[in-house]
Amino acid sequence: MPSVYIKTYGCQMNERDSEAVAAQLVAKGYTLAASEHVADVVLLNTCSVRDNAEQTALNKMTAVIGLGKKERPGQIYGFMGCMAQSRGKELIDRLPDVDLVLGTQKFHRAAEYLDDLLARRRERIVDTSEEQGSEGTIKEHLLNGAAKEKSVTAFVSIMQGCNQYCTFCIVPYTRGEERSRTIPDIVAECRQLVAQGVKEITLLGQIVTSYGRRNTPHPASPPSPHPMGRGQGEGRPVNTPFVQLIEAVHEIEGLERIRFTSPHPKGYGDDLVAAYARLPKLVESAHLPVQSGSDRVLKLMHRGYTRARFLEIIRKLRAARPGIGLTSDIIVGFPGETEADFEQTLSLCREVEFDNAYLFKYSQRKDTPAAAMPDQLPEELIEERHARLLELVNEIGKRKYETFVGRQVRILVEGPSKKNEARMMGRTPCNKLVLFDGGERHRGQLMDVRVTRTGLFTLYGDPAIVNL
Ligand code: 5AD
Repeated sequence: MPSVYIKTYGCQMNERDSEAVAAQLVAKGYTLAASEHVADVVLLNTCSVRDNAEQTALNKMTAVIGLGKKERPGQIYGFMGCMAQSRGKELIDRLPDVDLVLGTQKFHRAAEYLDDLLARRRERIVDTSEEQGSEGTIKEHLLNGAAKEKSVTAFVSIMQGCNQYCTFCIVPYTRGEERSRTIPDIVAECRQLVAQGVKEITLLGQIVTSYGRRNTPHPASPPSPHPMGRGQGEGRPVNTPFVQLIEAVHEIEGLERIRFTSPHPKGYGDDLVAAYARLPKLVESAHLPVQSGSDRVLKLMHRGYTRARFLEIIRKLRAARPGIGLTSDIIVGFPGETEADFEQTLSLCREVEFDNAYLFKYSQRKDTPAAAMPDQLPEELIEERHARLLELVNEIGKRKYETFVGRQVRILVEGPSKKNEARMMGRTPCNKLVLFDGGERHRGQLMDVRVTRTGLFTLYGDPAIVNL
């Protein structure tokens, strides 16, 4: 049977899409190759969020084709995901050896198209059209990794697309309109994962706080003037569809932990904050992208909240779960960002003290409103601000991680560390990575470890002290 190598760029949603494609191909008899050098088919699952990510994938494909033509004639090449969606046929015009361009609503067609290409029934396939119901097609999982060991954690895709239209962001164009799967469909997938040994599930979507608000009828959805969860007239709290989904997943016996990403501060209602206080499986960590600390920039970005509102959500989350781990995404160098605006971002980071923040240098994206805004900042200035913010974020992170030294934490052991196979890796509820000397026998266990020291955004633990 043919073998396929899939390389993924970008976010967890992309990781999940690649996993689903791999699982679908394996079900059809394909094998998974460890590298492009030994594969019959090479698929690059791409990211369009920044130009850099697109260039990396284009360069990779150029290199793969260059080598493949010499070493593996007949090898099939495909782009899938966000860049495939946004560039379509243009990718084949640029790289004529590419056989397949598969858009973000077409992942489930991969096997059918590859069969056609391998059998030479078709020569080139570009499919980036919309497909109704495609949000319900990312379902299959590969529950054992390369080592054929059981997976402890899993991602579950709950929705596709985004209607927020932040002015910098290409996602509404690459992923389309918001479309949500139904609660029973998602719960069934989660139940099956748990039955196969999964202990932690991360619910995924481009804007999970909008889950179920658009095209899926939910009888108990709050009436639109009360998005924060108050039923009209009755004074009875009605939770948003996303919180209803978390509640439904929470009921699954054997599931230990629930996480989700990414929410949008605009839709972060009190019902979601309250869920952290009352649902023990919803672990104490939140990734909440702020993008900027300046109200002026937030408005230009079309984010739909102010700095004060963001800080209020953080305060409420910390009141609900004092130990909550908080991370964020921040864009540096948005068009027109002044030194004063940037300092607002620095001060917000000092005020919130994120455990970590992912920093993005602003990148002009095709057809987004921000790309046409005046006062695009020079690269050197973006670099300089990025370096300053990174220093601050790292300093705060280091300080926060150091507070864990000497403490006992409960980790869910996921498997060997990716960097050092001799060590095992687990995560705290607040999403800190903990490395310790252990073995396969620890996989899937919830265990207490004592933190002995820190590394860069890593904790080192010693289970021997508490788990003899
Ligand atoms: N330039 C830089 N960063 C971006 N992001 C999204 N669009 C852009 C862009 N044009 C970042 C945001 C988002 C993360 C996934 O990517 O911070 O939260």
